[in-house]
Amino acid sequence: MSSPLFLCILLVVFGSYLSISAADDGNQGFVVVSTRSFRTQDVCSRSTALTPRPNPAGAAVPLVHRHGPCAKSQSTDKPSSFADALHRSRVRADYIMSRARAATMQEQELEEGKVSVPAYLGTSVDSQEYVVTLGLGTPAVEQVLLLDTGSDLSWVQCAPCNSSDCYRQKDPLFDPRKSSTYAPIPCGSDVCKTLQSDHFDNGCTMNGTQSQCGYQVEYGGGLKTRGVYSNEALTLAPGVVIEDFHFGCAYTQSGPNDKSDGLLGLGGAPESLPVQTSVVYDGSFSYCLPPVSSGTGFLALGAPSNDSGFSFTPMTPFMDYATFYLVKLTGISVGGKQLRIPRKVFEGGLIVDCGNIISHLPSTPYEKLQSAFRAAMAAYPLIPSDEGDTCYNFTGFSNVTVPKVALTFTGGVTVDLDVPNGLLLDGCLAFTESGPDDYVGFLGNVQMRTLEMLYDVKGARLGFRAAGC
Ligand SMILES: *[C@@H]1O[C@H](CO)[C@@H](O)[C@H](O)[C@H]1NC(C)=O
Ligand SMILES: *[C@@H]1O[C@H](CO)[C@@H](O)[C@H](O)[C@H]1NC(C)=O
Ligand SMILES: *[C@@H]1O[C@H](CO)[C@@H](O)[C@H](O)[C@H]1NC(C)=O
Ligand SMILES: *[C@@H]1O[C@H](CO)[C@@H](O)[C@H](O)[C@H]1NC(C)=O
Ligand SMILES: *[C@@H]1O[C@H](CO)[C@@H](O)[C@H](O)[C@H]1NC(C)=O
Repeated sequence: MSSPLFLCILLVVFGSYLSISAADDGNQGFVVVSTRSFRTQDVCSRSTALTPRPNPAGAAVPLVHRHGPCAKSQSTDKPSSFADALHRSRVRADYIMSRARAATMQEQELEEGKVSVPAYLGTSVDSQEYVVTLGLGTPAVEQVLLLDTGSDLSWVQCAPCNSSDCYRQKDPLFDPRKSSTYAPIPCGSDVCKTLQSDHFDNGCTMNGTQSQCGYQVEYGGGLKTRGVYSNEALTLAPGVVIEDFHFGCAYTQSGPNDKSDGLLGLGGAPESLPVQTSVVYDGSFSYCLPPVSSGTGFLALGAPSNDSGFSFTPMTPFMDYATFYLVKLTGISVGGKQLRIPRKVFEGGLIVDCGNIISHLPSTPYEKLQSAFRAAMAAYPLIPSDEGDTCYNFTGFSNVTVPKVALTFTGGVTVDLDVPNGLLLDGCLAFTESGPDDYVGFLGNVQMRTLEMLYDVKGARLGFRAAGC
């Protein structure tokens, strides 16, 4: 009767009852939430959060927070505080921007015949928070992989690898010798040549007469991975198998990592899973990040057969950078009131990055959002902060009345962020400043929570669906 799971379901039901009653009072721009809903539950709420996906291929895999109780092997590093999340988010944003600058500089320098900047870098992985569990090899062995829309090449640590060459992971290392479908990719192959043109190549090794295509990726924060680019069967769901999945079998790692068995790249370059499987799934994929770290969401390849529940906004690559997806914001409302923001300050667009935590907005929209939010939350004490953060002390409050925040994108698509989980992280407004007006920003993963985000890469559009998980 009083099992923790039962309690957890009750809380969810209670929370939604409160929000409905708030709307009935005519106070439509606000939602009353129980402060208990801010706290991470100790128990995985798989039963309440996982909704079936309308995908005919059934290619959906569960997605969970790596620190939450649903993670098969929880990360050993500490869950981040808001200050830490903000720091990690900024490091990742800076890193992506410096790479973009390096990439454009490289083109100019190549034209001028100057030396090139290395371009084989992946993004910073420190801010990655969500993992999916997939089956690799035959028989399929479960692998817990970080989900990254900001990089392309996927990899897992492979046996044999000792403790000085590979970081310690919770699950046993993937052992290609035990899989009947494993094969290293030969050096002369087209796949290996593409790796070269995308600067992930790392020489060629011989095993007897068999050549093996080497790969390497270096991330911000110092993590490097190196090994053999390989071909393997990837199982998404029972009976849904990608026969020719290309990934890095990692035999040499350096730098900090204790987060997962590997990484799954969902960017727009040829090495990513959606691009590799575009013949089958049209390059489309979607995911839903759960509302709290004790919930379950999903990652799915392919578009749903009926996308009538989605609102779409145009999506373009970021500069010449195939990896990143960019959308444009046109307006923001707080508590049902549209903020007066000149449209041109949004010109830089937002990089849609599930590997970043907090959303980054140019200075004018950030300041207007912050002041409107603070005004709407004036009943609660702000915690003083040198950083200019908007963090509240909810001690002593059993309910909190939180304004709804909606983002409007090109094409008039308005997306209501989840209240409170799409707005608040650790009691703090989960937005920060990206730079001056017109500067590129980021749509972070807090804002994506509970939305099904459908990347229709071929159709060059991003879809949002409310209550996805
Ligand atoms: C780990 O393996 C590498 C390569 O096989 C070897 O060079 C190194 O000495 C080994 N280190 C330890 C501590 O066994
Ligand atoms: C080399 O090839 C042999 C035979 O195919 C295989 O058993 C072995 O695991 C391979 N070694 C590496 C390092 O891939
Ligand atoms: C798609 O779903 C909507 C709402 O559920 C329904 O009205 C519509 O008929 C469906 N379209 C198709 C082509 O099945
Ligand atoms: C929050 O408020 C409580 C009670 O008013 C107080 O004891 C506590 O120190 C405050 N915490 C912070 C971080 O300001
Ligand atoms: C919280 O909400 C409940 C249900 O609407 C209400 O009975 C209670 O008085 C509220 N508590 C506070 C402190 O506002």
